[in-house]
Amino acid sequence: MFISAEGVEGCGKTTILKMIYEKLLKEGYKVLLAREPGGVKISEQIRNIILNKENTDLDNRSEALLFAASRRQLLVEKIYPALNNGYIVLCDRFVDSSLAYQGGGKGLGVENVLNINLFATNNTLPNLTLLFDIDPSLGLERIRENKNREVNRLDLERLDFYNKVRNTFLDLSKKYSNRYYVLDASKSIDEVFNEAYKKVIEVINGNN
Ligand code: TYD
Repeated sequence: MFISAEGVEGCGKTTILKMIYEKLLKEGYKVLLAREPGGVKISEQIRNIILNKENTDLDNRSEALLFAASRRQLLVEKIYPALNNGYIVLCDRFVDSSLAYQGGGKGLGVENVLNINLFATNNTLPNLTLLFDIDPSLGLERIRENKNREVNRLDLERLDFYNKVRNTFLDLSKKYSNRYYVLDASKSIDEVFNEAYKKVIEVINGNN
């Protein structure tokens, strides 16, 4: 069982995914919480190139390829072994982030970015993708309020970019409606958590 969480910055997915992880653990499930680059050394080295504020010359296609390479390494080193050992894997961002940010936001095209990612992941896609949908201006507002969260190079890009990203996620949720579940992330953390957890349990029990 492979579950990913997606959404624009400040949507709350990281907080809620951790709550889901802890509740599943308490219920006795074998569960791995992963996030790119996930403590995988090679993936971390790749991500340092991508997120470095000095790398303003980084080409969009290079960026998409680097995200795919980082993802591949996390899959091979952590996600595949966990899935093979019967773990539920919860992943904070996966292929859909590249489709939305690089494919939609940066204009590389969803199909192009999907192709390089299907190569990178050997066609592995999540069984369930939770989309924490929120108006990007509200998401960015939340980040500014939260001093613990460092704003990185990609955060600094314009709001219309985030609107494109959000709309691409929403398009993807229609295209891949069999694996997507859209949550209204402007609601309170507890409300969104309860709804997300209910969906996760449904999918784990096979009655989605
Ligand atoms: P991340 O470290 O996951 O931060 P957060 O989820 O807390 O926002 O992602 C950092 C940035 O990288 C974020 O702006 C989203 C972007 N990103 C992409 O553009 N493409 C991708 O494939 C991924 C995984 C992330």
